Amino acid sequence: MSSLKLCLLLCVCFALKIHESRSFNLSTGGLSTKNRPRSITKIAATRRSVTKLAATTRSDFLRSAVVLPLLPLLPSQTLAASPKTPVVLVLGASGRSGMSTIEACLKRSIPCTSATRTGTDPFKVVKLDKSNYTPYPEPVDVKDVEAIKAVIAAVNPTAVVYAASASKKGGNANEVDYLGVKNVASVLPKSTRLILISALAVDRPESQGYKMTNSMGGVVDGIMYEKFRGEEEVRKRVKDYVIVRPGVLMSGKGGGPVELAQGDFLGGGLSREELAECVVDAVEASESDFTVEVYRKKTRTALQKEFEGKEGGILSGESGAGRFKGVVKD
Ligand SMILES: NC(=O)c1ccc[n+]([C@@H]2O[C@H](COP(=O)([O-])OP(=O)(O)OC[C@H]3O[C@@H](n4cnc5c(N)ncnc54)[C@H](OP(=O)(O)O)[C@@H]3O)[C@@H](O)[C@H]2O)c1
Repeated sequence: MSSLKLCLLLCVCFALKIHESRSFNLSTGGLSTKNRPRSITKIAATRRSVTKLAATTRSDFLRSAVVLPLLPLLPSQTLAASPKTPVVLVLGASGRSGMSTIEACLKRSIPCTSATRTGTDPFKVVKLDKSNYTPYPEPVDVKDVEAIKAVIAAVNPTAVVYAASASKKGGNANEVDYLGVKNVASVLPKSTRLILISALAVDRPESQGYKMTNSMGGVVDGIMYEKFRGEEEVRKRVKDYVIVRPGVLMSGKGGGPVELAQGDFLGGGLSREELAECVVDAVEASESDFTVEVYRKKTRTALQKEFEGKEGGILSGESGAGRFKGVVKD
């Protein structure tokens, strides 16, 4: 895939969003394009605590909110019965990557909860083995800090996946890709891992992909800049995080090995299913506090011409537990 093709594909994907959201933009005036340099904060890795979620209905959620604070009072044998099982909460779960993440969790029998802006179960009609799945029955708008606190208290997740992004009704890039991320980063318990779905090239304001994607107008205007600021909030505030930067999200299931890179030199495309597998690998990874770009190996291309042949930052890309072996912390 050539750099130009990659830029065009990125833009087409974001343009689809703008098309949907044009009326919103007209009423708000949208955001201006901004490019800013970055600074990275090193954050020490932290242990994750685990509590298995068994709530299935609104009343179960309320019950769990009452029971969870009492957990430390239970006999230690009871607590020992909670192994290091991940419990995943997906924010923005009605989106295509959010839903794929839930499906990927369920494939591995990882208990997971969907939280959506409207409180509607995204899997109401979609066929799914739902034995480990719980839709959170209240709206969770990432602009609403109290709603975020409430869902985290009710679910007590070991990992939160941030899959929300600007939408016609949900808010523009500043509100969802920056402030929403900041809200979550501000209230996340220290023992909970955050996996942020960001975007490749947010660190490359001089690249064509960044420039074109960042200045598309509508609710996604300034999205690269806002995503980058969201990433910075995570690095600054969250004790245990993984930032996954996908390339162009393509339709279809998969098409060969997915490659990981660091440094924001390389890009490409991958399906949402492939992205979701990487996200769930990040939930289970022993490594933390790093940023990776993900794309299908055969689509690899340099983000800028001068990066051609620069392959030092590539990881092995094997799926599963070894996916992030050798990763460099931020
Ligand atoms: N498309 C690409 O090629 C591409 C490339 C690189 C990176 N990415 C990034 O990858 C991620 C996943 O992309 P996607 O296309 O799979 O996502 P998507 O389908 O656009 O889903 C975004 C989700 O965010 C939700 N949302 C919006 N505002 C919200 C709010 N205020 N509170 C809670 N939820 C809210 C939306 O819900 P409603 O619809 O109900 O508002 C929607 O379900 C995004 O961060 C995207 O920017 C995409």
